[in-house]
Amino acid sequence: MRLFIAINFDKETKQNIIAVQRRLRELGRGNFSRPENLHLTLAFLGEVAPERVAVIRRLMDKLNVPQLRLVFDHVGRFQRDGGDVWWIGLEPNKALLALQKELYHQLIDAGFQLDNRRFSPHITLARKVVLDKEPDRSKLIEVPFATNVDTVSLMLSERIDGKLTYTEQYAVAGGSHQD
Ligand code: 2AM
Repeated sequence: MRLFIAINFDKETKQNIIAVQRRLRELGRGNFSRPENLHLTLAFLGEVAPERVAVIRRLMDKLNVPQLRLVFDHVGRFQRDGGDVWWIGLEPNKALLALQKELYHQLIDAGFQLDNRRFSPHITLARKVVLDKEPDRSKLIEVPFATNVDTVSLMLSERIDGKLTYTEQYAVAGGSHQD
């Protein structure tokens, strides 16, 4: 099973993200994330044996999930051959970083292999993007928007009828207040 751990968003937040996607779409072409797939990844596990899922669930149960206020305030891109990845980035958030760090260490201690690159919180808007011209990024998000979240989800990634589909397998909610 291909798994990752993520934060999912409510309808209103997805609408805000979709508005940014729409502006990007007008500037070129790419594979745009479907609304139901918009999320923030905290840890990418990759291929995991099904019997290891119980270990992940237990470790998620121990996680201190705070009430997080996420502020979406910029658009960026990762350059890739064959088309870039465009994403929305978040205002620096210590509580989010602490949560990701805690999760990372719990997973490593449990024997999972994770990327050790620095966590760069982003919501992928589109992949394989080729734009007609360099956009003014500040026009893509004119006004920052925010949301409150307190739930972390274990997600299954699979292709169903050729469509990349993410399905929640488990979720833990916290709710203690952010500093
Ligand atoms: P991305 O959106 O930048 O591709 C499911 O693939 C989620 O896990 C996506 O949010 C993806 O980020 C993230 N992810 C992190 N590392 C990954 C990797 N090595 N391979 C695939 N997805 C990865």
